[in-house]
Amino acid sequence: KPILFSGAQPSGELTIGNYIGAIRQWVKMQQDYQCIYCIVDLHAIANQNNLHRLYETSLDTLALYLACGIDPNNSTIFIQSHVPEHSQLNWLLNCYTYFGELNRMTQFKEKLIQQKENVNIGLFNYPVLMASDILLYQTNLVPVGSDQKQHLELTRNIAERFNHTYGTIFVVPEVFIPTCGSRIMSLLEPNKKMSKSDRRSGNMITLLDDINMVSKKIKRAVTDTDQPPRIKYDPINKPGISNLLEILSGISDQPITYLEEIFKEKTYFQLKNEIIKSISSVLIKFQNRYYTERSNEDKLRYILCVGAKKAQKKANVTLKKVHKAMGLSN
Ligand code: AQP
Repeated sequence: KPILFSGAQPSGELTIGNYIGAIRQWVKMQQDYQCIYCIVDLHAIANQNNLHRLYETSLDTLALYLACGIDPNNSTIFIQSHVPEHSQLNWLLNCYTYFGELNRMTQFKEKLIQQKENVNIGLFNYPVLMASDILLYQTNLVPVGSDQKQHLELTRNIAERFNHTYGTIFVVPEVFIPTCGSRIMSLLEPNKKMSKSDRRSGNMITLLDDINMVSKKIKRAVTDTDQPPRIKYDPINKPGISNLLEILSGISDQPITYLEEIFKEKTYFQLKNEIIKSISSVLIKFQNRYYTERSNEDKLRYILCVGAKKAQKKANVTLKKVHKAMGLSN
């Protein structure tokens, strides 16, 4: 089976954006790929979130993976920092990445605008660590949300550059971005991506939000003042309504065109009620599983230990190949 790699940062509770854009795909792809799902704690430090609870948040993230349907008997699940090969390859690939390339990364530029001061080098270097994560496993496919598209292009460029110098060392990975739901937007600011580290909690729905909270947040979500109100997918002119349609489509697995047809004569209030119903039924299921999994720390630690061993074995094969090619070992 082809190899699939992806991950999420333990930088807070996963949002429905993370679920719709990424994790929903991960669950489906377990049948057809050898899946490797990482909890990328080294990336989270660069973002300076949850610094004092990082291990706990990593366990929360693992329990959420399991709650969403990632099966540790089928897929390899581990914490990034437990496999030191990630950092080791990172340094080597730094020397094959140009400053100008990283300077063009839009996610970094956005963080720079938000943060302004004390921007650490880790944040700048983030895409190279991500390339290392992917290339270590000779990954064929990387399912991600569209915010990661540019990073994936960089990964491919680094792999091709390295292969050009040293012969075929890395598989050049393909990216998989879902056609619908690859960029869920913030509820109160539908021109901005939904992010788990957003300080405005009304902008996101997390997988652990209680149902009353979900209802409040959806009711407050920005729509528009079109007269008469129209439920139509048009992200440029109707960002709020289009985002709500993407959320409903992603959560209920129904195509947007079908939803547009059903809601053609309906009100925004009715659309929101349907979303509340749909999200609530999915979240209740996840949360029941989450709390059971999270309470069994021994099991979580066991999964991580087995996962790290399996991952390290594979990572080590690639790293040795790289060392040899570069003349760092014989
Ligand atoms: N809003 C989104 N819509 C669709 N997909 C999304 N993803 C993130 N936000 C959305 C996808 O989720 C996966 C895991 O993301 P991550 O944890 O690696 O980091 P991120 O992309 O930076 O996500 P956040 O939620 O915005 O985290 P913070 O706030 O910590 O930076 C990725 O595949 C991502 O594309």
